[in-house]
Amino acid sequence: MVTVNRNYLKLQGSYLFSNIAGKVNAYQEVNPENKIIRLGIGDVTQPLAPSIIEALHKAVEEMAHAETFHGYAPDLGYEFLRNTIAENDYRERGCEIMPDEIFISDGAKSDSGNIQEIFGTDNKVAVCDPVYPVYVDTNVMAGRSGEYNTSRENFDGMIYMPCREENGFLPEFPKEIPDLIYLCFPNNPTGSAITKEQLQRWVDYANKNGSVIIYDAAYEAYISRKEVPHSIYECKGAQTCAIELRSFSKNAGFTGVRLGFTVVPKALERDGVSLHSLWARRHGTKFNGAPYIVQRAGEAVYSPQGKAELKDQIAYYMRNAGVIREGLKAAGYSVSGGVDAPYIWMKTPQSMSSWEFFDYLLEKANVVGTPGSGFGAQGEGYFRLTAFGTYENTLEAIDRIGKL
Ligand code: MLT
Repeated sequence: MVTVNRNYLKLQGSYLFSNIAGKVNAYQEVNPENKIIRLGIGDVTQPLAPSIIEALHKAVEEMAHAETFHGYAPDLGYEFLRNTIAENDYRERGCEIMPDEIFISDGAKSDSGNIQEIFGTDNKVAVCDPVYPVYVDTNVMAGRSGEYNTSRENFDGMIYMPCREENGFLPEFPKEIPDLIYLCFPNNPTGSAITKEQLQRWVDYANKNGSVIIYDAAYEAYISRKEVPHSIYECKGAQTCAIELRSFSKNAGFTGVRLGFTVVPKALERDGVSLHSLWARRHGTKFNGAPYIVQRAGEAVYSPQGKAELKDQIAYYMRNAGVIREGLKAAGYSVSGGVDAPYIWMKTPQSMSSWEFFDYLLEKANVVGTPGSGFGAQGEGYFRLTAFGTYENTLEAIDRIGKL
């Protein structure tokens, strides 16, 4: 008799952003004339930068001729891209990461969901609360949790590190020592950032206790303050305790193009085994490489022209972040984030629950955001807005919210 992976049955409802899309579509169907402004999912709105488009066209043209055609990409990614990443994202920041420690993928969502596969199912997992749901759900699917606890509104057997206003939305060391620690900075969803000194403490903690940090740095391009590190490898000793996930979605608008990478240093070993060799084995077996044309587009992100264009694109989104932050403050809301991150985290007014505020904003202002409780129990009473809309829509959304 066929049995199913019953761990999936522990999951609650559907994936957060699918759930929101369903609700918004249902509202739009009944109210087709209303102009809805979507500041919910962190999806970009600006077109790809000209240098990236140029690289795509050139690569497509290469695919049209036998002499320059490319079939399967190398398992771990093309050397031209891995060399460029090692140089620009790491060596230039003083991090000794070698090209063969970089694994090119189709994006950080897949990597953040897949990375847990190389660890035993008996590992104890710690996550921030609120948290990007993929880290939790994929560990639940793999069997690293107990049942969903309806009174605590989270899963038994997982370690949750509350990130609230009281602790500046930063996790504290948990009472029980975890094996795997997921950290995301600049943070999704709270928009908080961690300084190098604060992150160094986590690196020291992980090395001392034999834990592994899975560090999601998808939003590093939005960092504005000098004391905030762009990579965990800026901290001493991170190569023996940390895996880093990076994305081209947020820094270069690749949400619909798909490209990312994971860094697994060769010095990182646990249980007497090199995690680099396990991830290489997994990647080689289950993944056939990001498309050549997309990897060429990724390379263009690091060209002088690409860098200049993307600096402007990030400034565009961060201007939106300022509009949201300051507009909401002026309207009397309590807000944080939006300084080193494209997310603004606000408290819901008049003790509304996160989902009550979602409905209220959708119906009264036709603005879509993301309910904080969708990211975890500690997100209840909070709400997330993204800076990835167009400038005009962002202005209009904040104007509508201000008038409520
Ligand atoms: C978000 O809105 O949290 C992100 O866009 C989701 C993602 O990057 O997968």
